Amino acid sequence: YMLFSGTSNPKLAETIASCLKKPLGSVRINRFKSGEIYVHYEESVRNADLYIVQTFSHPVNDHLMELLIMADAARRASARSVNAVIPYFGYARQEKKDAPREPITAKVVADLLTVVGIDRVITIDLHAPAIQGFFHTPVDHLTALDHMTEYLKSKNIMKPVVVSPDAGRAKMAEKLATYLDAPFAIMMKKRPAHHEAAITHIIGEVKGRTPIVIEDMIDTGGTIVSVVEGLLAKGAEPSYVCATHPVFSDYAWERLVHPGIREVLVTDTLPLPEAVSSPKLKVLSMA
Ligand code: R5P
Repeated sequence: YMLFSGTSNPKLAETIASCLKKPLGSVRINRFKSGEIYVHYEESVRNADLYIVQTFSHPVNDHLMELLIMADAARRASARSVNAVIPYFGYARQEKKDAPREPITAKVVADLLTVVGIDRVITIDLHAPAIQGFFHTPVDHLTALDHMTEYLKSKNIMKPVVVSPDAGRAKMAEKLATYLDAPFAIMMKKRPAHHEAAITHIIGEVKGRTPIVIEDMIDTGGTIVSVVEGLLAKGAEPSYVCATHPVFSDYAWERLVHPGIREVLVTDTLPLPEAVSSPKLKVLSMA
């Protein structure tokens, strides 16, 4: 097999390569002045099982398109199979219609990947696990929960409670609570607008406990801030915040420097900007 990296998260691809003791293959990826993308594999991929590491980091549309073009080039160069390693699968938050005349973008992305002949997708903590069914090829759906559990156990947190910020994350929270042998609580939220979340109420006991909030992603940080504020208001201690994917758009990190947050635990499915470094941030590798 051969391993290649797109331009979205070269550091993660290098870490994967070093775990596998396998060099990354050589591929040239250029942008034309017009913004169009050019790809050329600089070594033969004939009959190889190709693994392309490409996450959907910002700018997400460019990185998606780059992956499609890399897959097309590999197919046309007679690769035996093309496997997409997509640590963070973007566009997953629109996996169903919540209102009339809306798209289902997760299906659009799945269809595009299928059209260019991707044989297998390896991904991590999908926003909605049912997206696996949008493919008729295998999808390996991995999780960061094991790494998170190991890290959280090492912290010996007193009186923990695992908190799901909404009903969508309840299964993940329940699993983490089982792994940590802790109780769990669910918060109910409503969304007055796309990037606003308002907590309506909490099911479960949080008073005097240290919450471990589990999320699939932190995008603008708006949800997490309203969650930790809601928890403080109910008498909880400052929270540990865990999220697999640090999308961190729109000054999210500044928002997360909050007295209600003890520590933020994320993974390297997405690259973090240089400016985002703090003893309160722990990054686990999914390599
Ligand atoms: C929503 O259901 C997701 O699981 C996240 O809670 C949400 O997308 C995070 O976005 P933000 O950080 O912008 O609130």
